[in-house]
Amino acid sequence: MAFDIEMIKAVYSVMGERVEAARKILNRPLTLTEKILYSHLEQGSTTEEFIRSKSYVDFKPDRVAMQDATAQMALLQFMQAGKKKVAVPSTAHADHLIQAKIGADKDLQESLNKNNEVFNFLSSVCNKYGIGFWKPGSGIIHQVVLENYAFPGGMMIGTDSHTVNAGGLGMIAVGVGGADAVDVMAGMPWELKFPKLIGVKLTGRLNGWTSAKDVILKVAGILTVKGGTGAVVEYFGEGAKNLSCTGKGTICNMGAEIGATTSTFGYDDSMRRYLKATGREDVVALADEVAEHLTGDDEVYADPKKYFDQVIEINLDELTPHLNGPFTPDLATPVSEMKEKAAANDWPTDIEWALIGSCTNSSYEDLTRAASIVEDAFNKGVKPVSKLGINPGSEQVRYTAERDGLLDTFKKFPSVTIFTNACGPCIGQWDRAGAEKKEKNSIVHSFNRNFSKRADGNPNTHAFVTSPEMVAAVAISGKLDFNPITDTLTNEKGEQVKLAEPTGIELPTKGFAYEDNGFQAPAEDGSSIVIKVAPDSNRLQLLEPFAPWNGENITGAKLLIKAFGKCTTDHISMAGPWLRFRGHLDNISDNCLIGAENAFGGATNEVTNQLTGEKGPVPATARAYKAAGIPSVVVGDHNYGEGSSREHAAMEPRHLGVVAVIVKSFARIHETNLKKQGMLGLTFANESDYDKIQEADTFNFIDLKDFAPDKQLTLELVHADGSKEQIKLNHTYNDQQIGWFREGSALNMIKKANA
Ligand code: F3S
Repeated sequence: MAFDIEMIKAVYSVMGERVEAARKILNRPLTLTEKILYSHLEQGSTTEEFIRSKSYVDFKPDRVAMQDATAQMALLQFMQAGKKKVAVPSTAHADHLIQAKIGADKDLQESLNKNNEVFNFLSSVCNKYGIGFWKPGSGIIHQVVLENYAFPGGMMIGTDSHTVNAGGLGMIAVGVGGADAVDVMAGMPWELKFPKLIGVKLTGRLNGWTSAKDVILKVAGILTVKGGTGAVVEYFGEGAKNLSCTGKGTICNMGAEIGATTSTFGYDDSMRRYLKATGREDVVALADEVAEHLTGDDEVYADPKKYFDQVIEINLDELTPHLNGPFTPDLATPVSEMKEKAAANDWPTDIEWALIGSCTNSSYEDLTRAASIVEDAFNKGVKPVSKLGINPGSEQVRYTAERDGLLDTFKKFPSVTIFTNACGPCIGQWDRAGAEKKEKNSIVHSFNRNFSKRADGNPNTHAFVTSPEMVAAVAISGKLDFNPITDTLTNEKGEQVKLAEPTGIELPTKGFAYEDNGFQAPAEDGSSIVIKVAPDSNRLQLLEPFAPWNGENITGAKLLIKAFGKCTTDHISMAGPWLRFRGHLDNISDNCLIGAENAFGGATNEVTNQLTGEKGPVPATARAYKAAGIPSVVVGDHNYGEGSSREHAAMEPRHLGVVAVIVKSFARIHETNLKKQGMLGLTFANESDYDKIQEADTFNFIDLKDFAPDKQLTLELVHADGSKEQIKLNHTYNDQQIGWFREGSALNMIKKANA
C-alpha cells in the first residue's frame, strides 16, 4: 500500500525521548501541538525552549504532498537539486486542472486533452524521483492524503493551503510554497516561526441538523479570517472525541479560512476506526504504543487557559447549523436567522445550484447524511428545486458511494451532475452555463472558500458555505433561507411536510472499495527515466540554473520599478489566467510586477526604459535591460511580497535580470524566497532613503565584495543629472544564505553538495 510504514515507525521510535526532553526544558505539561513540533526538530531532541511567535525553528517534516498547479514549478526546481530520489515520502495529485462542466467522464477526457502535457510531465518526474503520483480523476489531494498517508503525531507540508485537512488524523500539516517543498524533498530543513496556540474545548455531542462543519463555521465567526494567523488550533474535550475522524478533517480543513497555520486533534477511537476502515491496522498498532504522546497532557486540558494563548469553548449540544457567506467564510449566520439577514442584505434567496463535495466535505459520512435528506424528501413526495452538483473527494469514496446506492439517491434530483473526483467548482474550474452574464444569484455549497468569483467566475454569485446535509435541504427547497428545523415543504399532493433530521453512516459497513484508485507508484529505480519537455511547449519549460555571482561589486544596475504602497505576491505574479503558465518560467515572467503601482506617475505596468526614455510594460523593460547585459533593481515599500508563498514572485524577477529588491520592509517568506533564488533582498537602513530613489537612477553596490552577516551594504545612487549619493542597506543573510547568493541559488548549492 502507498503509505510508508517504516517512516511512521521511525517517527514513533524517537517520539518518547523527544517529548520527554521538551517536557524537561519547558518544565510543564505539554499540548499535543508542542509534542508534535518538539519531536520533529531538525536538531533532534530540544536543548532550548522556543518562544511562540518569535523563534524561527528548523523542522524535519515526514511527508510532502503537492497538487498539480503548484507541483509543476516545485518539481522543475527539484530536478535541479541533483538528487536521485526525494528524501521523504512525497506525492503529487492531479486535481486542480480538471474543469467541471458536463459530468465526470466527459470533463475528465476534456481535461486530459487540454492538460495531458502537464499530467505526463508530472507522471514521469514522479516516476523518476520516487514520488507517488495520483492520476487525474483519482481524487482531491487532501482527501487522498487523509485516506492513505496522514497519521497521528506526524508532520507534513503540502503545496496547498488546505493541507491542514490532515489535522483530522492528528497531524501537524501545513500549507507552504513550492520552494519549501523542494527543500524538504531535497533533505533540507523546513523553517517555521514557532506558532501561538489556540485551544478549542468541545463539550457535548452533535445532534439533529448540526454537523462538524458547523463547529468550524462557528469558530470562523468567532475568530474571523485573520484570528488564527500564526497559530495552531488544537481541539480537545469530550466533544472532540465524539466527532468522526472525517468530521475532524472538515474542521481542520477550514482552519485555513481563519488564517491558522494548522489545526489538530488528539489521537482517539474515531481515528482508530478510520485508520482501520482505510486499511491501516498496522498504523493503529504502532500509534497505540505511543498513544500518550499523541494527545495533549491531561493537566493541559484540565486548565487550558494556563497553556494556550487563547481558549474558546463550544458546547456541541447547543450548536446550531450555520450558513456562512456570502463572499467571506467568516460571515456566520445561524440557519434560523437567515430569513431576516438575507432580506436585510438583499441576498438573492432563490438557489439555482447547490454543490456537495470538495476536499472539505466529501467523506462517506457526509454523503450518507446528505443522501438521507434526499431519500426522505423523495419518500414524502417532495420534488427538489435546485440543480445539484457533486464532486467526490476520491475514487475510493465515489466507488463506495456508488456501490452503496448513494449516488442513485442523489440522482433522484431532476438535475444532478456527478463531476470528476477533483476540485472543479471549488477552484473556479467550473464552466457554469450562463455565468458570463454576471447575473446576481446565490449558490450554496459544502466547500471551504466563497470569495467573489471563486466558484464560477461571476462576481455577482453569492456563495454560501454550509454542511452537505444543509446543502441538500436548501437544494430541495430551492431557498437559501429555508430552515429545515422549523419550515415545511409542499409535496406533490399539496401537503405540508417536514424533512426528517439527517442520519449518517460514519464508515461504510461493507468497507471501502475501488477498482482503480488512480495511484501510480514510482519506479524502484528511476535513474534511466528521461524527462521530456518539448522545447516549443508554452506550458512547461525546463529550468536553467541561475548564474552564480561573479564575486565582483554589481555596478551600473538600472531601476526597473519603484513600487508604491501595497505590493503583494499577487501584484508581483498574478494568478487567474496566468495559472496555466505555472510550469513555464519564461512565459509566466510576462506577468512580473504588472500589478505593482509605479511610484512615478501611479500607473501599473508602465515604467520608463532608461535606455530609450520610452515608457513600457515592466516585463518588457526588464527584458530590454537583460538583453543589453544590464542588471536591474526593484524598489518597494513596506511589507513587500506579502500574501502567498509562491516562489514565482522571486523566480520571475530573477529570470528577468533583477539582481536586488530593496524595500522598506519585507514579508518574511518572500524575503526568504528571494534569498533562495540567489537575489539580494535588502532593506533601507534609513526608511526615508526610499524617497531618494529617482526614476532614472543607476545603482552601484560598492562594497558587495565584503558581503557578510550583520554588515551593512553601501549603495551608490547615480542620479540622471550625474549627482551621486550613498545610502546604507540592511540585510538578514547568514553565512549559508550568502552561500546561496554566491552560488546563484539555494538549489545550486544543494546540487554542488551532491555532486
Ligand atoms: Fe481543491 Fe478546493 Fe480543496 S481547490 S484542494 S477542493 S479547497
